[in-house]
Amino acid sequence: MKIVNNIKDLKSCIKLWKDSNCSIGLVPTMGYLHEGHKSLIDRACRENDKVVVSVFVNPTQFGANEDLDKYPRDIKRDSKLCEESGASLIFAPSPDEMYSKNFSTYINVENLTDGLCGSRRPGHFRGVCTVVSKLFNLITPNKAYFGEKDAQQLAVIKHMVEDLNFDVTIVGCPIIREYNGLAKSSRNTYLSKEEKKAALILNCSLGKAKKLLKSGLKDSNDLKSVITNSLRDEPLAKIDYVEIVDSISLKPVKKIENNVLIAIAVFIGKTRLIDNFTWNI
Ligand code: PAJ
Repeated sequence: MKIVNNIKDLKSCIKLWKDSNCSIGLVPTMGYLHEGHKSLIDRACRENDKVVVSVFVNPTQFGANEDLDKYPRDIKRDSKLCEESGASLIFAPSPDEMYSKNFSTYINVENLTDGLCGSRRPGHFRGVCTVVSKLFNLITPNKAYFGEKDAQQLAVIKHMVEDLNFDVTIVGCPIIREYNGLAKSSRNTYLSKEEKKAALILNCSLGKAKKLLKSGLKDSNDLKSVITNSLRDEPLAKIDYVEIVDSISLKPVKKIENNVLIAIAVFIGKTRLIDNFTWNI
């Protein structure tokens, strides 16, 4: 498996593969890979001749007061995981390689980014869409893999691909969790032992919501209250948002009559965690 840090070498590798008619899968990541990422890489390896994993902590998607500097990085560990999964190449550029001094072109997906993480993290999806577009242009993958853990990101990327006619199929992959239900995340490494325990409240509150939906609850305010009250039981948790939105438009719904996304963002201490599930009618 190759590790490539610059665009020139990446492009010549891609050209060789394209010349021999290889299909290419792309798994965009910010590194510090875990089993969630691995599930995407494994699937990409099953479905493509060659697989590129990008490892890039993308500065344009972090807000001024966010964790860009302390975001965990370990390229050695990441390359071991990629190699074991059968990936063909890691693309791990520097910020300067991706963003020239005069960089001034950004991709903005409107409407879908109005709520949820889009409203709490202004500019976040603009950074995500810009870097993902650049990766699509550089790698020209047949398929690209994204996790349902970042449900809004997945919806936004799918929409961008449609709007801008990118010739790539977006594949959504299910959320991978710890044995105790905590969704795997690179940011879980920020949590102390006590906070890790407290973080279980995210999946636990969603579990309560699922039960009520199964029993026929239709009022989204009632459902929100149940999730909110459950989260408030945990002293270390501070709610960022609890939202019930249409799973296509991502607009809030009052009555649960169509497929909905139940999405939450919660601070555990200083660490912001997200989780969700989709309820299909
Ligand atoms: P990152 O947080 O590293 O996640 C990379 C991919 O792994 C995303 O598609 C994310 O949804 C998926 N993923 C993370 N945790 C997962 C889990 N527990 N189960 C399943 N999939 C999971 O998302 C980003 O990076 C960036 O925004 C990126 C798309 C790379 C653009 O910079």
